[in-house]
Amino acid sequence: MPHKPRKAVFPVAGLGTRFLPATKAIPKEMLTVVDKPVIQYAVEEAIEAGIEHFVFVTGRGKGAIEDHFDLAYELEATLRARGKTAEIARLDASRPAAGAASFVRQQEPLGLGHAVWCARDIVGDEPFALALPDMLIQAPRGCFAQMMEVYGRHGGNVIAVEEVPHEQVNRYGVVALAEDLGNETHRIAGMVEKPKIADAPSNLIVSGRYILQPEIFEKLATQKPGAGGEIQLTDAMIALMAEQDFFSYRFEGTTYDCGDKIGFLAANVAFALARDDIEPKFRLILEKLTGPR
Ligand code: UTP
Repeated sequence: MPHKPRKAVFPVAGLGTRFLPATKAIPKEMLTVVDKPVIQYAVEEAIEAGIEHFVFVTGRGKGAIEDHFDLAYELEATLRARGKTAEIARLDASRPAAGAASFVRQQEPLGLGHAVWCARDIVGDEPFALALPDMLIQAPRGCFAQMMEVYGRHGGNVIAVEEVPHEQVNRYGVVALAEDLGNETHRIAGMVEKPKIADAPSNLIVSGRYILQPEIFEKLATQKPGAGGEIQLTDAMIALMAEQDFFSYRFEGTTYDCGDKIGFLAANVAFALARDDIEPKFRLILEKLTGPR
């Protein structure tokens, strides 16, 4: 069985321009879905999959993310003095252990591929998980935990995919499938970033969760800017595909693109409706708001 990834990379250096003015002084990854920042869902998903080290690729103005995953000493002391044990437990559950989180700065937002490349020294020569935290996944079992099983069976590089309506394929990385390997897994024949709708090889999009081999860093090191003038991870993966296996996995679950306003609002509704402590009252309000116009 291949050596399972121990480290996860979270690129969080993007500017979040689609969410201005909210993201002027607050990182978009700190926007909350119900009562947790978007980034925390991705970290919890990685913890569930057995990830031991968390690498955040940050930029200027992203200090709140670092603070969020630190021990809030004064806050916890105050909660302890007031006997608020449930609140303390909630904070403890999602905090990486001391030394288990690393933060590296991208310096310039040159694209997702460049952000991933900035994690090369911390990841080293081992396979790693990569999560785009904007892509928030609601699933009965964490998407990474599901992907680890596929990786255990096939090794190589594993990419989570899902269907979107064909008219939306131009917003995402799109895969072309080859051999069906069962268990929702296919060998990938090709990939294209933000294709024209007419040119898209399928309506299966890359949904923000990857298990990658460290050779991707060599490809990223020499990658020229691609779509949108950014250094694209997709282009580096296409280059690596000539040398290594890539598998797509249609995970069980639904993605909400929280980098986009509608996706973010939908995520809040979906996650609120999944919470026993919120659902009954929230559903009544929703019904009132969405009744006949
Ligand atoms: P997006 O495509 O959503 O870009 O990045 P963005 O800049 O964050 O947002 P908009 O389009 O301006 O609203 C996808 C992921 O890649 C990270 C982002 O933080 C996000 O998690 N990213 C993107 C970087 O870390 N660095 C970059 O240079 C670009």
